[in-house]
Amino acid sequence: MKLFVDTADLNDIETIAGWGVLKGVTTNPTLLSRVEGDPDDIYRRVCELVDGPVSAEVVADARGDMVKQATRLAGIHPNIVVKLPMGAEGISATATLAEKDIRVNMTLVFTAPQALLAASAGAAFVSPFVGRFDDIGEHGLEALHEVVDVMNSPHFNTEVITASVRSPVHVIEAARMGADIATIPPKVFYQMLQHPLTARGIEQFTADAEARAAHQG
Ligand code: G3P
Repeated sequence: MKLFVDTADLNDIETIAGWGVLKGVTTNPTLLSRVEGDPDDIYRRVCELVDGPVSAEVVADARGDMVKQATRLAGIHPNIVVKLPMGAEGISATATLAEKDIRVNMTLVFTAPQALLAASAGAAFVSPFVGRFDDIGEHGLEALHEVVDVMNSPHFNTEVITASVRSPVHVIEAARMGADIATIPPKVFYQMLQHPLTARGIEQFTADAEARAAHQG
């Protein structure tokens, strides 16, 4: 499973890209609202930091406006993937954009039927939201599993991006069920690094190495 980061924060992107694990980035209007700067400049900088798909979200209601905005965003850099919301307008815009070879990441997907429609319209990626489904008392991981199963059909060339990830458990479960990608918030990336036994082990090895050096020196 490939790891993407879900943020528009350039410092976090640079830090995690430095670990050599990032294969892409996803953003959304909420994430962009938390950082300073012109969105187009941010997308350009993200594309310099990470060599992989970078999702930039369209904000429009009608398919014509979606296509226009998406075409403009896709022109910013060859790695830009446009994010469109699930729905009749988004699906229709996806079909038009797919014909123009503009890659779409269909966002706000919660169910397998929604994913099936997005893939049939030619979406390159579908993003089932796990955490937000859990938030309303549904089982986000079960819904993700269904999407992964359906997208495994040879009829589709659509990758599943596990989105709305809230914990390392979501990431591991997504990997176990064969999701193509998980887009992970920086906070969860930092949690994935850590374990108290790792910290304790490093402390012990360092102390022993220093004691030996002192003894011999
Ligand atoms: O970018 C889409 C998705 O990952 C948002 O996550 O945490 O706002 O539900 P969240």
